[in-house]
Amino acid sequence: MKRLRFWLTACLTALLAIGTVTACNSGGGAGSSNTLTMATSADYPPYEYVDSSSGSQEIIGFDVDIAKHITEKLGYELKIDNVDFNGLIPALQSKRADFVMAGMTPTAERKQNVDFSTIYYDAKNTIVAKKGSSLTTAESLNGKAVGVQLGSIQETAAKDIKGIQAKPLNRISEMVQELKAGRVEALIMEDTVAKGFIASNPDLEFNTIPNTGESGSAVAFPKGSELVAKFDPILAEMKSSGKMEELVTKWFGADAPAPAKSPS
Ligand code: ARG
Repeated sequence: MKRLRFWLTACLTALLAIGTVTACNSGGGAGSSNTLTMATSADYPPYEYVDSSSGSQEIIGFDVDIAKHITEKLGYELKIDNVDFNGLIPALQSKRADFVMAGMTPTAERKQNVDFSTIYYDAKNTIVAKKGSSLTTAESLNGKAVGVQLGSIQETAAKDIKGIQAKPLNRISEMVQELKAGRVEALIMEDTVAKGFIASNPDLEFNTIPNTGESGSAVAFPKGSELVAKFDPILAEMKSSGKMEELVTKWFGADAPAPAKSPS
């Protein structure tokens, strides 16, 4: 009798434990079961930035619209966390976020730690500098102090430029300030983002440089996340239905290049 009671209790405990574990796993991980948490670095207009015009402090942009569309289709609520770019991959690794959209490029190095969707938009690197500075090519940056975003592919690209004195900074806005204050002579930044900063800072100009490594933006997930297989078909559908093109025009303007077509 005692023995039977022991085994009954043991079995019940085991069942309860399994039940609890499954209940915890059924959700997205970071949020409650019907909320997905997206981490982003909201310093990257028009991909993601804080809408100061409305006073709402809401994070808006191209990536946010895509995220809203996808999570809505999948039946999730969307929560957005603003994190420095360099902290985004750690946020996925520690499961504080279910996914990252931050104009993030799916590089081989990052793929060791996170999984990526297909690429949804492409970009090129540019040099941003004061007008007339003639800092227009990678070679011209030899011996110059140049701002780049910490943890970005632009920081990696800078390492390949001979004689450059790269100054990694957390936020894109800090980089622009450093340039305006003359503490750096140039910045390396993606074309789509550079365009916006030049429009509001007419004393600056940008010149496109050839991409030496990987480029483009994809959604990042914790390794092994089931969400990759859910996001990819919706991204594909957004491309074929013209929804992606509509968002490109909304955020990047009518003359922006079309969204990346081929899955990669
Ligand atoms: N595409 C570049 C990268 O993946 C830069 C992205 C920066 N994004 C941002 N939200 N600040 O490294």
